[in-house]
Amino acid sequence: MKVLVVGSGGREHAICWKLAQSPKVDELYCAPGNGGIAQIAACVDIKATDVEGMVKWAKDNAMDFVAVAPDDPLALGMVDALEAAGIPAFGPRANAAVIEASKAFSKELMKKYRIPTAGYETFTDLDAALAYIEERGAPIVVKADGLALGKGVVVAATVEEAKTAAREMMADKKFGESGSTVVIEECMTGPEVTVLAFADGEHVRPMVSSQDHKRAYDGNQGPNTGGMGAIAPPPAYTPEVAQRCMDEIFLPTIRALKAEGRPFHGVLYFGLMLTPQGPRVVEYNARFGDPECQAVLSLLDGDLMDIFTACREGTLDRAGIRWKNQAACCLVLASGGYPLDYKKGYPISGLEEAGKTAVVFHAGTKLGEHGEYLTNGGRVLGVTALGDTLEQAIANAYAAAKPISFPGMHFRTDIGHAF
Ligand code: AMP
Ligand code: GLY
Repeated sequence: MKVLVVGSGGREHAICWKLAQSPKVDELYCAPGNGGIAQIAACVDIKATDVEGMVKWAKDNAMDFVAVAPDDPLALGMVDALEAAGIPAFGPRANAAVIEASKAFSKELMKKYRIPTAGYETFTDLDAALAYIEERGAPIVVKADGLALGKGVVVAATVEEAKTAAREMMADKKFGESGSTVVIEECMTGPEVTVLAFADGEHVRPMVSSQDHKRAYDGNQGPNTGGMGAIAPPPAYTPEVAQRCMDEIFLPTIRALKAEGRPFHGVLYFGLMLTPQGPRVVEYNARFGDPECQAVLSLLDGDLMDIFTACREGTLDRAGIRWKNQAACCLVLASGGYPLDYKKGYPISGLEEAGKTAVVFHAGTKLGEHGEYLTNGGRVLGVTALGDTLEQAIANAYAAAKPISFPGMHFRTDIGHAF
């Protein structure tokens, strides 16, 4: 098969790496890809959000299958457009991807189908939002409705902080139109875990659980990022918790989407908080998480191409999905200054040495004129190692990352130990 993966981060590198292992995949392409992905797939210079351009290229080049990984093209209807052009595609259609693209939609869905989540109200009027914050008090959570690169959420410790956040989103349009509608939520407490699940419209098959580290600095301090590291599986996600999540959250969600005429095919991301009252949904995403994907797919023993096909065709209940009886850790090496201002274009050394004991997924790299790797983004690399225990996996990832360096390199030293 000729297969195209849409996207350019560490997540897409992990997807390409796994697809490249499938005997069914003869030719692998990635658009736009990055320096590391170019080792295993032919990179095509089309922006991930260019729906028309992507469909045209896939058609002209006779792709047999396209996997759409990032949230934006999914929300823009890239899967709908590919399927309409006769190209089988992996990922939810736009009417199902809305579970990530609109927090107001996902909160409504959870309320209607009694899926446990934080209590909330939705506002389009600033004064009403401010009055509600005053009435509820702090701590309280303020969220921009639309996609805001994971940065449109403020967990406010004081009423003043919450009001400032609402003003910035609604009046100052800090996140553009994403903030015209805000969701104001009760603040939950407890460990956070991610469960990525394959879904085929009808069936849901959870992957090994994982845990992201969203803050930039050690001890969960500093600004929110796309994710500074991931472990899988986290100890807090016990078999009892998993069963409750299946019964109270995963199955009800997949059934709810089907009942609403929005069957979900693809990867459904459950961001969960294990509160004293039980597991609750923090957020849904319509795709693999990054860097959770790198840790989780490292533990997959099955053929990812077969699983993607089953998700599309509705045969997931019969798909062979096996997991290694090990743990994984993905350590993100970021540019100095990320997630705020940072410089790009620095040479990266030590990759070959690191690759001997870990898989180094590239997130933001490009190839220089002499075939050398240069930094080209905020998150640069995800050093991913396995171990027989979680502790071992974490130690292996840090040991493997040792030889890697580039000017300004920044990483957290407490991945897997911050909770
Ligand atoms: P989100 O983009 O919705 O995942 O939110 C980003 C982060 O904000 C989450 O990973 C949580 O750590 C935190 N958060 C979001 N909603 C809540 C909530 N209702 N209570 C406590 N923390 C929250
Ligand atoms: N790592 C969190 C996300 O991908 O949204």
